Amino acid sequence: GSGKISNYSSDIKIFPMFVRALPDGSGKISNYSSDIKMFPMFVRALPDGSSKISNYSADIKLFPTFVLALPDGSEKGQFLALDLGGTNFRVLRVRIEDREVDIESKTFLIPQRIMLGTGTQLFDHIANCIGKFITEQNLQGEKLPLGFTFSFPCKQEGLAKARLSKWTKGFRCEGVVGEDICFLLHEALKRLGITGVEVVAVVNDAVGTLMSVANNDRRCEIGLILGTGCNACYMETLDNVGLWEEDCDFPQQVIINTEWGAFGDNGCLDFIRTEYDRELDTYSINPGKQIMEKMISGMYLGEIVRLTLERLYNEGLLFNGMDPECELFVRGKFYTKYVSEIESDHDEFFRNTKQVLDELGIENYTTDDCKIVKYVCTLISARAAFLSSAGLATLINRLNKDHMTIAVDGSLYRFHPRFHNLMCLKIQELVKPGLKFKLELSHDGSGKGAALVAAVSTRLLESKSK
Ligand code: GLC
Repeated sequence: GSGKISNYSSDIKIFPMFVRALPDGSGKISNYSSDIKMFPMFVRALPDGSSKISNYSADIKLFPTFVLALPDGSEKGQFLALDLGGTNFRVLRVRIEDREVDIESKTFLIPQRIMLGTGTQLFDHIANCIGKFITEQNLQGEKLPLGFTFSFPCKQEGLAKARLSKWTKGFRCEGVVGEDICFLLHEALKRLGITGVEVVAVVNDAVGTLMSVANNDRRCEIGLILGTGCNACYMETLDNVGLWEEDCDFPQQVIINTEWGAFGDNGCLDFIRTEYDRELDTYSINPGKQIMEKMISGMYLGEIVRLTLERLYNEGLLFNGMDPECELFVRGKFYTKYVSEIESDHDEFFRNTKQVLDELGIENYTTDDCKIVKYVCTLISARAAFLSSAGLATLINRLNKDHMTIAVDGSLYRFHPRFHNLMCLKIQELVKPGLKFKLELSHDGSGKGAALVAAVSTRLLESKSK
């Protein structure tokens, strides 16, 4: 914590994102007396406010973004947006006027062979989907600025220049790490003869989420994703960010993409990891990476539950005799949506739990089995909620504002019956007395947020050229 944010060699990359101002933008981050020692991991990983965000040999690689300003309400126009990195890939048409945002979108599938194929295949597929969407929406020949929500760690060199630092979640396409993804997309569009589309901004989903809530709430300075992956971003004073070479006439702030899903990649979370976490990691496509994400997010929670139930079965503590072909024994077959469904059972009938067990092909279960299954789910999701709360509380204490809104999006947060409440209670325990916060669900942050960043950057460019 003694120098500026500098190199990108640590586990968690603090990505500057060229997003430099939130509404008002006048609030400076002040020092906070470090009273959250119960979370030394996060406190150590984040700059403590008394020094510059230092080098990337820290645990959390805080990546500055290049988002220069938030919407001021004067944005207007029609934009395309792409959303890649969650459960679905989407192409959107976004119309913005007087803070009103009108969205039409289409979801496309990204087959696994493409997620694990080459970069060229991936970007050709994306360009193809854009082409189809343009035809369906009758947008041929129009000039369409595009905001790209690309939810992976990127080192941004400009608002529309982002080099992939590494793949996370289910993706591992060859030949993309280290490359500028805007360039790759433009090349693919050219190959297909699609003209008129220009990528004007790349944003992370956490940033899009923050932007979309900040559009209507000036107290929002933190964005959180609890979906397929887990990540957060927050507003940082530019003075705290090293290697910032841009000149800027805007408020001296920048949104920092923490990429905190990689927290623990250096072993600092090993003391709380279980045998199930380790097994899940071993069989993942990126062993040793995204350790905290693997304890929290939707891509993994179901599998942790499955591994736990499998162990209980093997110990003779759960279910009496099962078909060896049963899906409980198959990796990836216990979906995180099951966890949400099971925890939504509130009486002794265990309707959802039974339905899940039926779907998995488990027979002859008892009410006690249902109770145990539900109990395992509650423990694993509470751990996930508490870990994310620890991260959020650290950011809230660091920003140290009386009232703070946290924009949240992601399927896990949306559909889990208790995540929101568990987090509110835990964060309350961890924030400095007197700091008030609220968790606000963002509506389509990835789609709307990317378009808003595109709209803001178009507005800034237009006002510069006047
Ligand atoms: C992964 C990605 C990160 C993204 C998060 C949520 O952690 O690395 O960029 O924000 O998933 O989608």
